[in-house]
Amino acid sequence: MNILVTGGAGFIGSHTCLELLNAGHAVIALDNLSNASEEALKRVQEITGKELKFYSVDLLDYHKTNSIFEENQVDAVIHFAGLKAVGESVAIPLKYYNNNLTGTLNLLDIMQKHQVFNLVFSSSATVYGVPEKLPITEDSPLSTTNPYGTTKLMIEQILQDLYLSDPRFSLVILRYFNPIGAHKSGKIGEDPKGIPNNLLPFVAQVATGRLKKVNVFGNNYPTPDGTGVRDYIHVVDLSLGHLKAIEKKANIPGVHIYNLGTGRGYSVLEMIHAFQEASGVEIPYEIVAPRPGDIAASYSDPEKAKKELGWEAQYGIEQMCIDSWNWQRKNPEGFTK
Ligand code: NAD
Ligand code: UFG
Repeated sequence: MNILVTGGAGFIGSHTCLELLNAGHAVIALDNLSNASEEALKRVQEITGKELKFYSVDLLDYHKTNSIFEENQVDAVIHFAGLKAVGESVAIPLKYYNNNLTGTLNLLDIMQKHQVFNLVFSSSATVYGVPEKLPITEDSPLSTTNPYGTTKLMIEQILQDLYLSDPRFSLVILRYFNPIGAHKSGKIGEDPKGIPNNLLPFVAQVATGRLKKVNVFGNNYPTPDGTGVRDYIHVVDLSLGHLKAIEKKANIPGVHIYNLGTGRGYSVLEMIHAFQEASGVEIPYEIVAPRPGDIAASYSDPEKAKKELGWEAQYGIEQMCIDSWNWQRKNPEGFTK
């Protein structure tokens, strides 16, 4: 298939481009490079020995996005492009609503115009808000606590409405839990700008000495060791989930919703220890106040994806930490060096 990957130069996008190329698909990547480097896609081509087409285009630019569909026969779209920093979305909500919603509306309008009806959309476990029960199933109540999460929930609603109005669409919504890790080559990985917000990139930068210690946000949660519990998932497993979604659901009309997680939760302290084991480097940490808006625990029920997509996560936290470390160690400054 010819697959357009929006946000293709980003963390999950670049890993997915790699797996799509390996599986024999033709890839057209679009990215405005606001949170990524073109170098990631050069390396994807180096690793796979295959070429992809790259457009440095902003989804907010309707005409340039439209011309990609005029120049290429697109069979399906995987839509990663979006802004994703929770704290920043609270500080500058209009930028988040504009980028994530307008970008998606442009894309959907252009797809409909060109009769491209297959979409896979990156949603997030953040749409479950404070979960009422664990593990989290897809039919759990939805709510959000910040503008970033609200953009995801609004887009999910837009996709439901689109399908009701035009039942030719096959719309797959994938709700990711906590993606970490990197491709085993160590050539591509997560390269956050500035000080990382997320736990694993922060821990990895402490391991290289770029940051001094990990701040553990609270140890009084109702969890086994008091620190927050999350369902970490290897980015390669996550990427393969997109491949399965396309293989199984393209051209099957409907709105298809799946959790992508491992089904197992690990605490902050367990993750720090696992990273220590993987890297052989001691990771200093300090318990500090809880981060506002954080929840105690979140982990998925991954059964629906297993049953309907034939997908399940293969890698455990040991491999996730080994691969994160391999990437971080080989690229201490990310893609810039
Ligand atoms: P990322 O920031 O690495 O990738 C997103 C990419 O989209 C970036 O390369 C950025 O430059 C690009 N982009 C942003 N706005 C754009 C626009 N208007 N036009 C064109 N390109 C644009 O993030 P990621 O971790 O790879 O996440 C990919 C998707 O998955 C995002 O939608 C994110 O919200 C979602 N998601 C991520 C996580 C996570 O923890 N990483 C969890 C759940 C969901
Ligand atoms: N944590 C720390 N110290 C840090 C960073 C995080 O103790 O420096 C803790 C958090 O309190 C939490 C756990 O580590 O308990 C994981 O935090 P992350 O920031 O890595 O991940 P979140 O679960 O908070 O959020 C992530 C993405 C969101 C997405 C959500 C669900 O950042 O965008 O997963 O997919 F919505």
